[in-house]
Formats: sequence, structure tokens, C-alpha cells
Amino acid sequence: MSTPVNVAVTGAAGQITYALLFRIAAGDFLGPDQPINLHLLEIPEALDSLRGVVMELEDCAFPLLRSVVATSDPRVAFAGADYAFLVGARPRGPGMERKDLLQINAGIFAVQGQALGEVAKPGVKALVVGNPANTNALIALHNARSLEPCNFSAMTRLDHSRAVSLLAQHCGARVDEVRRVAIWGNHSTTQYPDLHHAEVRGRQALELVAPEWYEEDYIPTVQQRGAAVIQARGKSSAASAANAAISHLRDWVYGTPQDDWTSAALPGAGAYGIAPDIFYSYPVASAGGAWRIVEGLDIDEFSRERMRITERELLEERDTVRALLPD
Ligand code: NAI
Repeated sequence: MSTPVNVAVTGAAGQITYALLFRIAAGDFLGPDQPINLHLLEIPEALDSLRGVVMELEDCAFPLLRSVVATSDPRVAFAGADYAFLVGARPRGPGMERKDLLQINAGIFAVQGQALGEVAKPGVKALVVGNPANTNALIALHNARSLEPCNFSAMTRLDHSRAVSLLAQHCGARVDEVRRVAIWGNHSTTQYPDLHHAEVRGRQALELVAPEWYEEDYIPTVQQRGAAVIQARGKSSAASAANAAISHLRDWVYGTPQDDWTSAALPGAGAYGIAPDIFYSYPVASAGGAWRIVEGLDIDEFSRERMRITERELLEERDTVRALLPD
């Protein structure tokens, strides 16, 4: 067995983390030979509830789980972190504008970014899940003085998985027969699920589905899937979000298959003409522990227009929180 690694998880008494922590401790993230220390962060008001979660983790007697730290101090939670799942965020309350939500969460991610920069390992891989995920990642990066863009990514893997699953269902295929679906842009309803490069059983997806279905049914269904889950369940996606977070970080560490890609939000250095200083979701591959944007795809006018709409939303979000973006 190797030396334990430190996995920090924020929002550790929340509903996503209730589905996430037990899977990490069982080895679903780093495999059956990698022991881990869990560092759990919560706000002071939720520490009692977190104590119950820690008891349950202990009661599982997971062989890979070497220690658990539960704290409300980001510097304790992120000390020596190899990996960070940044899930904790304030939900939108009654009467709260999107702008208010952006500001409140921006404050949280500024503090956490600073702490990560001060005490995490230099090679830390930090995944931002808490919403608005793309812009929270931007804030964390700008405040993490000693870290680089390659230390951060924001999660659009749940959108990606939803897009794969819906296409597979429609074509009567298995999910592992679908390749090269892409999510562009923001983890919000402006995201663009793109099938122009997708294949089902080796055939072009857009030759298998009707254009009206793609444009009028598929795209809005993927964009609004989160709201549909809330409508049905009375709560937002939790187990599927936890699964996406594990899949995202596992692919980041171990790589994606040669002939496929996934989607993740990264600062793109101008790829596809998108502004470089936002976390924008691209088709991405991973090798050697680093994400790489899949470049060189043909983008037609239909796609370009949708890519711009979601870029505009991210630029507006960035401008709303500009005060929290030190150079
Ligand atoms: P939840 O409300 O059940 O849990 C959030 C937890 O974060 C709470 O326990 C809260 O006390 C904690 N928290 C708040 N501020 C914190 C801080 N400063 N430090 C540490 N912990 C803090 O919410 P849930 O359902 O677990 O969702 C968490 C976040 O993930 C939300 O922002 C949600 O919108 C987002 N989300 C993102 C998805 C994605 O695909 N990127 C998918 C689904 C949810």
C-alpha cells in the first residue's frame, strides 16, 4: 500500500457530499490500494451535523480511510491537500437575485482560494462543484497566489453525462457506445451540449437523430435537467453530482480513453476564440495528470452562436465579481 494522500472536501455536511464521502473512502476515486486522509470543511453552524457524518464514516470501518479531520478552518482543511473537492456553497435563498448569490459565493471562494494557495500541496488538483461553479473557480484561482490555472477546474461532467445518457437512450444504444459529446460554456442553462462531433456505435450522431429533435428537444432537455430533477425529487441532484465529481477527478488523475474525451471547465488561453480569462467548458482529454483542451474541431455557425451566448454569460459573471479578482 502507498502513503496516504490528503483529500479535502468542503460542504461536508451537505447532500452531495453525503453521497461523495463514502465512495471516496471506499476507494471509488483512487482505487483499492490508495489509503486516504479525509479533511472535511464546514461552516461552524453545520459542525454538529458533520460530527454525525464522521461517526458514520467510522462505522463503515473502511480499510482505506486512515484519518478524518472535521473543521471550519479552511487552513486546517486544506493543509497538505493533494486533492480538493470544493462542493460547499450557499444555495439561492428566497428572493435572492443571481447577482447576490454570485457575490456571497465569490466571498467564500476567495477565502478558500487563498487558503489553498497557502497550505495545499503545490500540485493540488482542486475541482469546483459549488455554484456558480465556473466563476467560483475563477475567484479561487485568482486568490490562490502560489497556484496555477492547471491546479483548478470546474465541473460540467454532470452535464456531459446527462448529454451522453440522453443521446444513448434516444438512439437505443448503450452509454459506452456514445463518444465525443461536448459541453461548451457555463454550468447553467446557457451551456451548449454539442453533438456535431458525437458518434453512436461509430456513426455520426447527427445522421441518426432528427435536426428538430436535436435543436428543440435534446439541447433544452440537457440544459434544464437540473431543474427537472428538482421538480421531481424536491431536491437538487446529489448522487449524480457526486458521481460526476468522482469521475472528473479520477479522469484528471488517471487520464481519459485514447479515442474519447469528456467535458470540463478550464481557462482556455484563447482556444476556439473564447475569452481566455474565464473558466469555460470545453471538450477535454487528460494524460499525465493534466487536462488538455481538444483543439481543431470544426465549429459551424449554429455552434458558434451558442458558444458565444454562454461565453457572454460567463463574462457578465466575471464582471460582477471583478472586485474579488486580484491580478
Ligand atoms: P447543500 O446545501 O446540501 O450543501 C452545501 C453545504 O455547504 C452545506 O452543508 C453548507 O453548510 C456548506 N457550506 C456553505 N458555505 C460553506 C463554506 N464557506 N465552507 C464550507 N462549507 C460551506 O448543497 P448540495 O446539494 O450539496 O450542493 C452543493 C453545491 O453544489 C451547490 O452550490 C449546488 O448548486 C452545486 N451543484 C453543482 C453541480 C455541478 O454540476 N457543478 C451539480 C449539483 C449541485
